[in-house]
Amino acid sequence: MSNVPALEIHELRKIYATGVEALKGVSLSVQPGDFFALLGPNGAGKSTLIGIVSSLVNASSGSVKVFGVDIDANREAAMRLLGLVPQEVNFNFFEKPFDILCNYAGFYGIPRAEAKLRAEQELRRAQLWDKAHTMARTLSGGMKRRLMIARAMMTRPRLLILDEPTAGVDIEIRRGMWRVLKEVNAAGTTVILTTHYLEEAESLCRNLAIIDGGRIIENGPMKTLLAKLDVEGFLLDIDGGLPAELPHIEGVTLRAEDSHTLDLEMPRAMDLNGVFAGLDAAGIRVRSMRTKTNRLEELFVRLTGGKEVAA
Ligand SMILES: Nc1ncnc2c1ncn2[C@@H]1O[C@H](COP(=O)(O)OP(=O)(O)O)[C@@H](O)[C@H]1O
Ligand SMILES: [Mg+2]
Repeated sequence: MSNVPALEIHELRKIYATGVEALKGVSLSVQPGDFFALLGPNGAGKSTLIGIVSSLVNASSGSVKVFGVDIDANREAAMRLLGLVPQEVNFNFFEKPFDILCNYAGFYGIPRAEAKLRAEQELRRAQLWDKAHTMARTLSGGMKRRLMIARAMMTRPRLLILDEPTAGVDIEIRRGMWRVLKEVNAAGTTVILTTHYLEEAESLCRNLAIIDGGRIIENGPMKTLLAKLDVEGFLLDIDGGLPAELPHIEGVTLRAEDSHTLDLEMPRAMDLNGVFAGLDAAGIRVRSMRTKTNRLEELFVRLTGGKEVAA
């Protein structure tokens, strides 16, 4: 087993000719076999990052390695390891899925006989085998998107990258794509997708990075992130000052912000009554309280359109 990362990005910067700084020093590492989400709102820099990794956009500075292969030093070798599913459906609607896949393989130098074998395999996995010889134009929206994945898999990439594969498509179509992607990942391919749907990252991915304004603001296991969101923070204004020693209240973190402000963190599911009883017993009188929001929470509110995140 090698432990070379599937993707290793170091201090990546991109300033477009317009002066827009789309990436402000992004570093990221994705392990082989992972299912990784790059989550962020519109304009965060996701497509720029994917564009650089897949050699469609030139970085201003920084480095990218795909399974240890530097994309600047050895671009062709790096690209052979990588499959890309762009956001827009871009195959010829007047061809048939089987031919679309075989021709794509041919473009990458895969012999015809092998291409045919792979095409059947990929069309079956995408549940499109019965449409193999039907004009692509007649496929449903979901089928077209699954065909995009099948096509990218024809070169047997070790790393499959999808840029907002499900933006703007309905939930049924999204679920169909998720199923295919889970199978692709279970068979050993590392998958990275960008999305602005929190729900998508949550149901698919083991690890994620959150990008906002060209910077990674969070990076780690999905579980850790959700646990962070389960914590609620308050700032309490205290009447008459705080005692020298703060009380211990089970599950609650208390910190004196200053002599009359208390910073309180507690699990979202926890009852406030017990917390206040504990404060009261310690002689702490709360005059008022306000919610303390952090950057992550604010971002998640934007990503979920204001819906509650930690249900
Ligand atoms: N070709 C381009 N020329 C100039 N600015 C661009 C170009 N592409 C993207 N940008 C800008 O870079 C920022 C990041 O965009 P993008 O990478 O597309 O974000 P995302 O995919 O997360 O929505 C945005 O401010 C966007 O307007
Ligand atoms: Mg984008």
